[in-house]
Amino acid sequence: MDRKIKLFSSKQERLVEYTVPIEHGMVVLDAVIYVLEHFDSSISVRWNCKAGRCGSCGAEINGVPSLMCKTRLDSINGDIEVLPMKVFPNVKDLVIDPTDTWHIKKSIPNFKINEQIISKSNDITATKNITLYEYDVTRAQEFKRCIECFLCLDSCHAVRVHKSAYIGPMHVVKTASLDMNPLDSIDRREFLDKKGIRFCNVTKCCTEVCPAKIKITDNAIIPEKERINDKKVI
Ligand code: SF4
Ligand code: F3S
Ligand code: FES
Repeated sequence: MDRKIKLFSSKQERLVEYTVPIEHGMVVLDAVIYVLEHFDSSISVRWNCKAGRCGSCGAEINGVPSLMCKTRLDSINGDIEVLPMKVFPNVKDLVIDPTDTWHIKKSIPNFKINEQIISKSNDITATKNITLYEYDVTRAQEFKRCIECFLCLDSCHAVRVHKSAYIGPMHVVKTASLDMNPLDSIDRREFLDKKGIRFCNVTKCCTEVCPAKIKITDNAIIPEKERINDKKVI
């Protein structure tokens, strides 16, 4: 069976249609690779693992931020339209420029161990006995699943409207992973407050598109908002 796939061409500033023969189990990335190999090798597209692990193949597939390597063609009715994520500057065709996102990530105050749990010898391996609960570890592990695919940023209307005034869901996940580490000592509430977490009105679009199934809104954003409000009340 053949399917039509339309890919965004930055040179032509429009979608260009191709017809691709489909086999059972193919994903959108397979169809894009077929187009590269049989019609136009100049199309720019990023991918690496083809297994949903590297986060590099994000795009808008029929308007939904998705990983091309995890979206099966048989899950889409009708024609397939693939455009670059629109919240980022476009470099060429399906390739976006995430430079600003890496700068924002670097601005997050880094992990600093609570010195009260380090022995006086300053030997980090000679920490005092502390109790780590399974709940604490599980919570941090969830955020470590982030593959930095940027789909949550692309799905977020608050990021689109307020741009750099709102840090965005991916970075709240990173901040929460540090804040919820029981060994950490940094207070990042003022940082998140200044970075516009109030612009998030918990629409949960970020959670819906996350391929790592992180409960971004419920487990990262809402607890961080509550911590900021607690500080203001106190
Ligand atoms: Fe991607 Fe999820 Fe990480 Fe956002 S939180 S960058 S959607 S893996
Ligand atoms: Fe945006 Fe997610 Fe909040 S989509 S508005 S960060 S719940
Ligand atoms: Fe790595 Fe799709 S190619 S996530």
